[in-house]
Amino acid sequence: MNDQQLADLRQTYSQRTLTEADVLPAGPVAQFRVWLDEALAARLDEPTAMNLATVDAAGQPAARIVLLKGLPADEGFLFYTNYDSRKGRELAGSPLAALTFFWPGLERQVRIEGRVEKVSEEESTAYFQSRPRSSQIGAWASPQSQPIASREALEQREHEVEARFEGQEPLPRPPHWGGYLLRPHRVEFWQGRPSRLHDRIVYERTADGQWHLNRLAP
Ligand SMILES: Cc1cc2nc3c(=O)[nH]c(=O)nc-3n(C[C@H](O)[C@H](O)[C@H](O)COP(=O)(O)O)c2cc1C
Repeated sequence: MNDQQLADLRQTYSQRTLTEADVLPAGPVAQFRVWLDEALAARLDEPTAMNLATVDAAGQPAARIVLLKGLPADEGFLFYTNYDSRKGRELAGSPLAALTFFWPGLERQVRIEGRVEKVSEEESTAYFQSRPRSSQIGAWASPQSQPIASREALEQREHEVEARFEGQEPLPRPPHWGGYLLRPHRVEFWQGRPSRLHDRIVYERTADGQWHLNRLAP
């Protein structure tokens, strides 16, 4: 494909609309749950995959996909990872982060900004031990985001972890592995429309903890 062909790629969005009357006054996480249910019902690929953006001490943003693992009490967005990973180190330095969902099958995007906090050790352990054994072993074996000598070295570590925990079910949670809850202060719901005149409705948290709604120009 050349750049002209690339530049000519575009899609028209026309499936649905989003109005102020469509969104729940209770707050953005409750509204997100409605859209997530619709994404699940539509049988989209990886509907819980979200882009997580963090920032380092120099202000350099970095983004990667993680999986949404809960919306506890409609207070925020839960995900699990390695606390010593690049994202973990960046979140320790600045807990301000952003999430983006893109559901092409529904012509929808959700943009979330907020502050993360670690979930309790009990919660992280319960989730860790609910994962398949192979994932539990992988979490122990992989020093996420660190340079490693080779694929073989990684598989060697996997075998060592298997031997170390042989007969133990479930594995203990590695101390460097656990969950984060992102509590949002801004969430935008985007619905694609024709002529690039998309619908954008944004919730912003006010100083008194209420949610204020605005429509933004596309
Ligand atoms: C579909 C998908 C789901 C993923 N889910 C997770 C996840 O839930 N947690 C995680 O730590 N990494 C997940 N990853 C891997 C991350 O994108 C990333 O490679 C890893 O967390 C290391 O990122 P970091 O070096 O910026 O910390 C997922 C990747 C993809 C493509």
